[in-house]
Amino acid sequence: MSSILVTGVAGFIGFYLCQKLLSKGDTVIGLDNLNDYYDVKLKCARLQQLKENENFSFYKLNLADRESITKLFRDHQFDIVVNLAAQAGVRYSIKNPHAYTDFIEVLESHLGKKAQKNFLPMQPGDVEITYADVDELVQDVGFKPNTPIEVGLEKFTSWFKSYYSI
Ligand SMILES: NC(=O)c1ccc[n+]([C@@H]2O[C@H](COP(=O)([O-])OP(=O)(O)OC[C@H]3O[C@@H](n4cnc5c(N)ncnc54)[C@H](O)[C@@H]3O)[C@@H](O)[C@H]2O)c1
Repeated sequence: MSSILVTGVAGFIGFYLCQKLLSKGDTVIGLDNLNDYYDVKLKCARLQQLKENENFSFYKLNLADRESITKLFRDHQFDIVVNLAAQAGVRYSIKNPHAYTDFIEVLESHLGKKAQKNFLPMQPGDVEITYADVDELVQDVGFKPNTPIEVGLEKFTSWFKSYYSI
């Protein structure tokens, strides 16, 4: 079994990755600064679930805090580090809604509400296009993403409505 550091552990991907690793018996040290880019209560609720496993420990740390990170690496021997801590977000869809028409409309239909769209110019840090090639992931890990966007959004909205009781 490995000792694994997951940064951004209270985030969407970090949380699910961590659950998976703990379920196979790995020891996970999670790090997150719990910033308020979105609902901090949701991040805390994820951490609560992870903390139920005795092989999980959590550090509220900023990845940019060099001194604390150096200490963390001094105190622990990690076999693997998965770095997911980041300020995520793509605003391109707001400037170019046609690119994400299969996205907003599906969300509207599942939530039963019309989106109020506020069109803004490109923001600093926004990118025109992003690319992803998962061939090496499939080759190394044997996992191939196969959830169509409609199915993913349906699952998301049903979780969202149940979590926020709406
Ligand atoms: N969710 C997606 O669909 C998707 C797709 C492609 C790539 N990614 C990438 O995967 C990574 C994780 O995405 P996510 O959807 O889980 O995002 P998320 O925002 O849910 O999680 C990121 C976590 O990192 C934490 N964090 C941010 N800055 C930090 C810092 N300086 N120190 C410590 N913690 C910090 C945040 O508090 C948050 O909990 C990001 O790099 C994102 O760009 C996500």
